[in-house]
Amino acid sequence: MSQPTIESILQEKRLFRPAEDFSSAAHISSMAQYQALYEQAAADPAAFWAELAEQELDWFQKWDQTLDWQPPFVKWFVGGKLNISYNCLDRHLTTWRRNKAALIWEGEPGDSRTLTYAQLHREVCQMANVLKDLGVKKGDRVGLYMPMIPEAAIAMLACARIGAAHTVIFGGFSADALRDRLNDAEAKVVITADGGFRKDKAVPLKAAVDQALEDNAVPSVAHVLVVQRTQQEVNWQADRDVWWHERQPTASADCPAEPMDSEDLLFILYTSGTTGKPKGVVHTTGGYNLYTHMTLKWAFDIKDTDVYWCTADVGWITGHSYIVYGPLSNGATSLMYEGAPRASNPGCFWDVVEKYGVTIFYTAPTAIRAFIKMGDELPKARDLSSLRLLGTVGEPINPEAWMWYHEVIGGGQCPIVDTWWQTETGGFMLTPLPGATPTKPGSATKPFPGILADVVDLDGNPVGANEGGYLVIKHPWPSMMRTVYGNDERYRKTYWEHIPPQDGQYLYFAGDGARRDEDGYFWVMGRVDDVLNVSGHRLGTMEIESALVSHPAVAEAAVVGRKDELKGEDVFAFVTLEGQYSPSDSLKAELKQHVVKEIGAIARPGDIRFADALPKTRSGKIIRRFLRNLASGEEIVGDATTMEDQSVLDKLREEA
Ligand code: PRX
Repeated sequence: MSQPTIESILQEKRLFRPAEDFSSAAHISSMAQYQALYEQAAADPAAFWAELAEQELDWFQKWDQTLDWQPPFVKWFVGGKLNISYNCLDRHLTTWRRNKAALIWEGEPGDSRTLTYAQLHREVCQMANVLKDLGVKKGDRVGLYMPMIPEAAIAMLACARIGAAHTVIFGGFSADALRDRLNDAEAKVVITADGGFRKDKAVPLKAAVDQALEDNAVPSVAHVLVVQRTQQEVNWQADRDVWWHERQPTASADCPAEPMDSEDLLFILYTSGTTGKPKGVVHTTGGYNLYTHMTLKWAFDIKDTDVYWCTADVGWITGHSYIVYGPLSNGATSLMYEGAPRASNPGCFWDVVEKYGVTIFYTAPTAIRAFIKMGDELPKARDLSSLRLLGTVGEPINPEAWMWYHEVIGGGQCPIVDTWWQTETGGFMLTPLPGATPTKPGSATKPFPGILADVVDLDGNPVGANEGGYLVIKHPWPSMMRTVYGNDERYRKTYWEHIPPQDGQYLYFAGDGARRDEDGYFWVMGRVDDVLNVSGHRLGTMEIESALVSHPAVAEAAVVGRKDELKGEDVFAFVTLEGQYSPSDSLKAELKQHVVKEIGAIARPGDIRFADALPKTRSGKIIRRFLRNLASGEEIVGDATTMEDQSVLDKLREEA
């Protein structure tokens, strides 16, 4: 099984039309309806979004101006006041949804919990009051480093309720990575747990927080709030640490949602870019609330009868937009799962689908490829007939995986909704609308209404049908990132300066290569920059290189992606050593472990190759293209005559 290649997708001619019974009951039920919405939105995007904002969200005060676009800085619903926690909770309490399940949590090992909208509201209000007691005020930042437990969603909503911005840091990141992010955001409080369960093991979390904060390394942090989850031993710093269970249950449940300006900071989420330092992607309140609400409603056709399960971790944007905010704003039932498929329980995902009658299931191609490998017997032994829609995200899905998902998991009955989007976009950008759009295996199909997407060359000129180019978005949308936290210049440079404006229209540069076929379907090919996509996790090559060179043995490092059947891509590092060190397997293992310490296990190199020298241009730039070829065992493509020293390449080739 391989990643899609240009050749394979050009040959992909299968078309799957929505079933009539699905379409007739769907929010958007025909291509004609999609087309009409698309054209209406394209003609006047601001008016389109303003109408939906009025219909779909509750506002404390209406906005004065829908769109303020001073490229590349955007504001939506200027002057409007709302609170996303109010839209996710309070407004459902006056309806029958009060006693509807908001969150269903399936924990490890064997725990479970259901919170109705009324119960979730109560817990969020209590937590919001605890945060206030700890000195958190509107505008402050709160770091979250948590396992997949309901408290993670409660903490996010509690922050939003009092106007504090959260920055969730994936629990798989190391203490060092955590420290950098907490410092960049100047977090006042960190919310964590003693530990979390991962694949039959209780892994510590509080210990990493302690390590990150050691020697006052993050001076902004005044308190650490700790959920008791695994009951493992923890070190305790009495003047700083607070147990969640000692404060939250007795806190007042009266905490009205703070009226927030539409453009007030909602959260910062760090993601990898092309430099060594991760970027704090900034999302604000109103536009993000509207866009995640609308995309979930139309692209996943969410209904009150659905049990919706997104398998992402809340540490990523998918968890933010489509486990917490999008579903709850719609009054849906969102399922959260703490576990992961593992040798001792490879069929656990299908057990969860069967147990709760999951109707909408959203996961990543890397997981689908792993399921294929585990065999059809596992899903076939469970009753998956409740499923009515299947979503995918995170990386290009190869047509074989798409077909397997469709046939084996969906029983040939469920539309496959391939959603292309990014941390920066906040919500789905390219996606089928399942009652309307015929799907093609491997294509994220068409832009969501209001999204003006194109494929262009480096000058910004649209390329022809089936020609490769760069994916761009031509008009701001409500949940577009606002900036890089504390670094407007980096925001401008990363997203707006690669491709020049066209006829005065600024083009958002996504960093992905794509092509559009003769039917206007988009086929996303993957990153065109130095960002890797390993099992759907985004990693910067520079970030890993910086981690490697911080080890005393390493003189120089170059990291590239190597194609991998399961992960899509794997981390492959070329390393030259300082004079007094010599290559060995134990040094290799040590360097891998060093990357885990610096960044986290997700960045562990799959392989490291020691080299005497790296291929460079005469001006000293490493020629990564050649290293990518070498890593994947391919022929070297391209002109090697610009190289400083030809023998370097020959040597590397010999050692392969
Ligand atoms: O390369 C694209 C890939 O994931 C990148 C965004 O990563 P991140 O910000 O971590 O967000 C992941 C979840 C939204 C994109 O630049 N990507 C995401 N979805 C798809 C995809 N590539 C192809 N098809 C997709 N459906």
